[in-house]
Amino acid sequence: MADEIRTDYTEAEVTEAEVAVHWGEEDYYYPPMHFIAQANMTDETIYERFSEENFPECFKEYADLLDWDQYWHTTLDTSNPPFWKWFVGGKLNACYNCVDRHLPKYRNKAAFIFVPEPEDEPHLVLTYQELFVRVNEVAAMLQSLGLKAGDRVTIHMPMVLELPITMLACARLGVIHSVVFAGFSGKACAERAVDSGSKILITMDGYYRNGKMLDHKVKADEAVQVAAEMGSPIEKVLVWRRYPRQYQSKAPMVEGRDVFVDDLLKAHRGARVKPVSMPAEAPLFLMYTSGTTGKPKGHVHSTGGYLAYTAWTSKNIQDIHPEDVYWCMADIGWITGHSYIVYGPLAVAATSVIYEGVPTYPDAGRPWRIAEQLGVNIFHTSPTAIRMLRKADPEAPLRYNYEFKHMTTVGEPIEPDVWRWYFHVVGKERAVIVDTWWQTETGGFLCTTIPALHPMKPGSAGPALPGIYAAILDDEGNEIPPGAGKAGNIVIRNPWPSITQGIWGDPDRFINTYYAKYNKDPNSKDWRDWPYFAGDAATQAADGYFRILGRVDDVINVAGHRLGTKELESAVLTVEAVAEAAVVPRHDEVKGRVPDVYASLKPGYEPSEEIRQEIVRAIETIIGKIARPKNVYIVPDLPKTRSGKIMRRVLAAISNGHDVGDVTTLANPEVVEVIRQMVQGDE
Ligand code: WTA
Repeated sequence: MADEIRTDYTEAEVTEAEVAVHWGEEDYYYPPMHFIAQANMTDETIYERFSEENFPECFKEYADLLDWDQYWHTTLDTSNPPFWKWFVGGKLNACYNCVDRHLPKYRNKAAFIFVPEPEDEPHLVLTYQELFVRVNEVAAMLQSLGLKAGDRVTIHMPMVLELPITMLACARLGVIHSVVFAGFSGKACAERAVDSGSKILITMDGYYRNGKMLDHKVKADEAVQVAAEMGSPIEKVLVWRRYPRQYQSKAPMVEGRDVFVDDLLKAHRGARVKPVSMPAEAPLFLMYTSGTTGKPKGHVHSTGGYLAYTAWTSKNIQDIHPEDVYWCMADIGWITGHSYIVYGPLAVAATSVIYEGVPTYPDAGRPWRIAEQLGVNIFHTSPTAIRMLRKADPEAPLRYNYEFKHMTTVGEPIEPDVWRWYFHVVGKERAVIVDTWWQTETGGFLCTTIPALHPMKPGSAGPALPGIYAAILDDEGNEIPPGAGKAGNIVIRNPWPSITQGIWGDPDRFINTYYAKYNKDPNSKDWRDWPYFAGDAATQAADGYFRILGRVDDVINVAGHRLGTKELESAVLTVEAVAEAAVVPRHDEVKGRVPDVYASLKPGYEPSEEIRQEIVRAIETIIGKIARPKNVYIVPDLPKTRSGKIMRRVLAAISNGHDVGDVTTLANPEVVEVIRQMVQGDE
């Protein structure tokens, strides 16, 4: 089914955005000399080298960062738009590139440092040699279960060392992993496992979050049950035990189905598995995102193009040198963690920190203590985490003795005021900041400053990266020139190596979602006729910097997590009493956006606190706690057009205290005032 692109949030968002254009727009901050002196990328001719006349061959520079078993013969094959193929004919193994090839030089260097949430537990350091040993053992174990290249495996694991070990073991065999964020419910995990056709689920017994050990295995049991009901059974559940302090889950092990990984591994101690040489275009992993319909989309990322792009950006935008201590405080269960905790950093021999817990646990000094203890000098996180830390203890960074050379923000727009706290207080005015705009679909950064080459501008991501030809188009496809002060849709006019290869099992949905809007000739083989529609509103200033304003479709970006309103609405509709539901984004000081639920009830039901609680519970169990609504309003009816379409725009305006505009043409205009009073009171 075609995804309908809805634009009825844009008005409110764009109005705000136009105000935002004036937020200290021309306020430039310059990278400090000590950063420039050591930076990996200082070549001012880089944009010329990546200009359109050198496209696509310019991307050879990216692929040359990797070790290839066989060199490619065609840099970009555009014969089947928009399914682009990069580095065709090339063969390589992602695990080999992230682990084996570093051994001669970095065998004894830390690949990962694991920081458990409880502060009384010791850190665990995994050298490249030890990572090699453990990945081989797990690969041997997976192989003994019959897994081979092209099979899919679902991994539902928290932030522990065993997660990247498992991912890399899959990559070593050419097995396609699909990591589902641990905060998602068993049901959400099942849906994704079923869609990908996984027969094996890999999980963990429990993990720490906010001072509590969470029972995680119970979610696997639920996932297995739901997958069976959906007609696509999960046959085996592999359960890692959290080390240190192994823990007893309430969910008993099911004979013949569940196995502890440490028991299985006993047979594979010291095993070695030859990395399987995979075509550049072979899928490396799937990553699901929320879409404009209820069904999540499984984005397919390639082995060669994806790894080349994340390696290059880790080296040149994250400025990672092997001697740095790099910490991306994000979750591996999202694309940021895949690209910038695991694959990109390891491809360039980084030392990467993995933190299990919540940034503000036990207090908002925790990240700065970790930075001080480990000597972290590159720090990467989301605006939500920054807002949360600032709110909890704005002086905390000053009490710790660490020094960052580089900091990143990702995932949401950052308000200039929050950016400044990040720069002055967290970075102590010694670090450069990159604000990186990109998406699950894009695999790696698209718009950001190059840290030693460009000044920073609070609240703006920066220009498009070399070789990324970005533009702002209006709804008709006309280009809005830089400096016009007008918002539009950001598009990328060309293919690039880490773009998603498509949606698992649904090529039509891929075309409809990302290309149908601006492609005028579906038969054209010229890539210039296929601008990639990102689904974000943005403005471009005269200096070429992009400022991202937010989603223009049915996606709500809550604390940097993408949630589909349709998914939330379907969860609400599982509550017996609910007749109709609409979910809209409300501004939130810390999380950026949060969902508000509006529901009307079936005849015979009266609004009650109980029903409201039931709605919240339905969302938590079907999707996960991250989707918990801010408010649940039980209303007499939802505002609708005469053709019966629910006017979410009107509800979004009410939630955010904006003017609802002219509603006289609605089928039920009187209900708007009733709802407005309920939400905003009499003012
Ligand atoms: C938003 C996360 C403003 C945007 C990497 C995008 C941003 C969505 C930024 C993708 C940024 C990401 N400034 N907004 N620097 N980075 N976004 O797939 O709306 O989880 O479409 O990927 O996050 O979210 P996703």
